[in-house]
Amino acid sequence: MSVFGVPFRSVPQLQSLSTADLSSILQDVQRRYDAFRQRALALDLTRGKPASEQLDLSSALLGLPGEDDFLAADKTDTRNYGVLQGLPELRALLAPLFGTVPVQMVIGDNSSLALMHDAIAYSLLKGTVGSERPWVREPRVAFLCPVPGYDRHFSICQDFGIEMIPVPLNADGPDMDVVERLVGEDAAIKGMWCVPKYSNPSGAVYSDAVVERLAAMTTAAPDFRIFWDNAYAVHHLTDERIEIPSLIDACARHGHPHRAFVFGSTSKVTLAGAGVALFASSAENVKWFLGRMGKRSIGGDKVNQLRHVRALRDTAGLLALMDRHRAIVAPKFAAVADAFAAHLGGTGVASWLVPKGGYFISLDVLDGCARDFVKAAKDAGVELTPAGATHPLGQDPHDRTVRIAPTFPDLATVKVAAEGVALSALLVTTSALLAGRGVTTA
Ligand SMILES: Cc1ncc(COP(=O)(O)O)c(C=O)c1O
Repeated sequence: MSVFGVPFRSVPQLQSLSTADLSSILQDVQRRYDAFRQRALALDLTRGKPASEQLDLSSALLGLPGEDDFLAADKTDTRNYGVLQGLPELRALLAPLFGTVPVQMVIGDNSSLALMHDAIAYSLLKGTVGSERPWVREPRVAFLCPVPGYDRHFSICQDFGIEMIPVPLNADGPDMDVVERLVGEDAAIKGMWCVPKYSNPSGAVYSDAVVERLAAMTTAAPDFRIFWDNAYAVHHLTDERIEIPSLIDACARHGHPHRAFVFGSTSKVTLAGAGVALFASSAENVKWFLGRMGKRSIGGDKVNQLRHVRALRDTAGLLALMDRHRAIVAPKFAAVADAFAAHLGGTGVASWLVPKGGYFISLDVLDGCARDFVKAAKDAGVELTPAGATHPLGQDPHDRTVRIAPTFPDLATVKVAAEGVALSALLVTTSALLAGRGVTTA
């Protein structure tokens, strides 16, 4: 994918300056940082939530389906129990967006994270298709975790005692040489987290070649699963609606039909607390999932499913809604990118990918500077996600990556906050260089 702004892992420029020149730059940065801090602001760029203005786009849902509207297309009474797999018309609406067909999809309640949690719990307790035994009876269970990644994925693993093995995430997906080597030699590696499109937090988009290699690779574990969390499948920030290949199809083509566990939701399409979530996989995996799910529920919230069908109408209706989200969200991302380019561009002390979709930007600063950077931003009145949150167990070995979430505050706030973030990064990294610290490692 193309990269705008400062190239990812840019060549350090400030590092080549003399101590005298660096000192004078630091004085200037300190003056600008102090002026910002004196404004005594209290801004928050921590969690990737939709803004109220975005939730307003789906206000109609609050009045749907309406008192007299409760029959699904096949006349099922949505108020009653049943239809564990979810309404066919909603599955038909969502399936093309997630690289599958309606019969290979299950609709869950509002949270895809809950479905991921369930899939792991089921696999641990019962084993999955092709397992020799429940995962919990294995001497070790490990997951590959591309980093930077999503902290809540890591929390699930931590909670269940699953070992996490970080692998580098590049702009086009995980480092596949590393992934192939690890899964090929270690049968304890049962799973891998992937956010394949507009990744949380770097914005990376997996290339066709990476998807192909993930589907084709040989794994020591016969029941290895890719947890394909396509949370940002339709969350484009440009008019280039990037599409990635269907992992389900690619895995089937390479003779590993059960490898892909696909997840998604409408949390950031309609209402974050009242959307619908989905699981998609091979027909056999769907049967396995429904078998487990049927023990914990007699059926999901079909009234919510029906009102989503009424509100979204069809796949095109959903994409049109996403264009309206984009009109609200894209200027906020542009404000952050502009502030980073203005203050950090060409300095070589920070690098980032300007994302073409999703909810996050991650800023990589010089090694050893991320914690101090987050602290400096907080002192200046801008709360950021704690450094380390992008890595398993909250430990970023390079102390380098910080996640920025610009969607929730209003645009004016994002503009100001982004300036504070950029100044804090510049202050901390310039100070580190002067103190003889702050290197970049590839
Ligand atoms: C990558 C990723 N997956 C899942 C979620 C949560 O999804 P849901 O609301 O469907 O549980 C988020 C929320 O930020 C996310 O960034």
